[in-house]
Amino acid sequence: MRKPLLLICLLLLTAAFTASAQKENSVMINQLVIIANNPGPVISKDIYGHFSEHLGRCIYGGFWVGPDSKIPNTYGIRNDVLFALREMKIPNLRWPGGCFADTYHWKDGIGPKEKRASIVNTHWGGVTEDNSFGTHEFMKLTELLGCDAYINGNVGSGTVREMAEWVEYLTSDSDSPMTRLRKENGKEQPWKVKYFAIGNENWGCGGNMTDEYYASVMRQFSTYLNNYGENRLYRVACGPSDFNVAWTETLMKDPATRARFQGLSVHYYSITNNWANKGSATDYDETQWFQTLRANLQMEQVINGHSAIMDRYDPLKTKGLVVDEWGNWFNVEPGTNPGFLYQQNTMRDAVSAAIQLNIFNRHADRVKMANLAQTINVLQSVILTQDDKIVLTPTYHVFRMFNVHQEARLLNTDLRCEDYVNGDRKISAISASASIDKDGKVHVSLANLNPDKSITLTCPVIGETYKKVTGEVLTSDAMNSMNTFEKPETVTPASFNGFSYKDGVLTVNMPSKSVVVIELAK
Ligand code: AHR
Repeated sequence: MRKPLLLICLLLLTAAFTASAQKENSVMINQLVIIANNPGPVISKDIYGHFSEHLGRCIYGGFWVGPDSKIPNTYGIRNDVLFALREMKIPNLRWPGGCFADTYHWKDGIGPKEKRASIVNTHWGGVTEDNSFGTHEFMKLTELLGCDAYINGNVGSGTVREMAEWVEYLTSDSDSPMTRLRKENGKEQPWKVKYFAIGNENWGCGGNMTDEYYASVMRQFSTYLNNYGENRLYRVACGPSDFNVAWTETLMKDPATRARFQGLSVHYYSITNNWANKGSATDYDETQWFQTLRANLQMEQVINGHSAIMDRYDPLKTKGLVVDEWGNWFNVEPGTNPGFLYQQNTMRDAVSAAIQLNIFNRHADRVKMANLAQTINVLQSVILTQDDKIVLTPTYHVFRMFNVHQEARLLNTDLRCEDYVNGDRKISAISASASIDKDGKVHVSLANLNPDKSITLTCPVIGETYKKVTGEVLTSDAMNSMNTFEKPETVTPASFNGFSYKDGVLTVNMPSKSVVVIELAK
């Protein structure tokens, strides 16, 4: 029998087994079938990417304290942040925005600090931006992190020449005005820049353009973004937000338009109530817990909607869907600047992150990059800072636990599970994905969305057997447990032994409101 046929038969058999067992016992058997011997697409490490904007205390106080600070730093970048993000295996970092990107003029941020232009950050709090963190500082940051740079160019208020010259300044080794300028500023060799975005949210803060108008402008800008030497730019065109598939259609339908980019972005934030009142990040009841997780699960529909359009025009999947802004967005912490978007982070954010990363993994054939908004001190951050103190949030720990999926190959899974019910609404109680890495280790990442109930999940692992099984868990006493500057280790991962593996079947006892990663090795 051919392999795909065999797989379909196995899935049908296990589904039939589950259905009949459920009929007899009228008890839901939670089951995740994992096909271990027929790996699918590679899960791009860039799905685990991050986003840093000149917004609130993300750059200043977050990444950057300056070389003269008492806070231990390397070239002005906080050492504690560098260490934590390297541990987490950050694969890429997007900068300088966000909405800020389409107001940013890169030449303001190069050369001697005392000569750099001070501007007003009109989008975010109206604060003065002294441009002490600019191109050289950002590229140094990515070098110290060992990650790829993802630079977002200015379409909304910039010019074609300005964007073209930025790419030349960054990546060219020829003798030209821009390379001479770079050398004068102390950087002899060009940098490598992997990702370059042609504007941000150009349907909104990036110029309020129509889709047709943006498509023309993008074609024009893209024409002048050259590949210098061996540097190959992966150009990201601005896509829509949420469910606006019409924008995707406009960017995808014309071959001459889609020839000008390699990736198309989409933004989706998980909003609990409504945009006017997004609820508190820390003070919530179970209905709000449920609403947040439900909003996170909708990412699947967002991706399916845009992928369906992309599949129509690009069936070979040569273009990537780039979810370069996602995350939970709540009301700002009381007493903080509303323009700084500072929010705390709880166990709800950890389960949310697990849901999203599992969705991205399962769509590895189309989703080639994703960037959580935003790395430090803004929205669903992985790090919070206060002077010389640092907190790793529950979301950080999920990214660290899930980094085993980076560049692994997705495994086919089939999940059947009970619902998590709240009032008259219900969602799936379990989130899951699985992959196999280059050493043949299988990793299964799971989340139990139910905050009141532990759940047992049975996972027949088809096709291979394993000798060593280990696990890690992130859970907490309360739904809204969090890490604070006073108690930074309230929510931290622990080694997990609530599982068994017998006759090729892995059984996992997931605590309520938990995130679990299991490793199976030969
Ligand atoms: O992440 C905050 C803002 O949300 C970004 O600047 C913008 O792109 C989006 O609307």
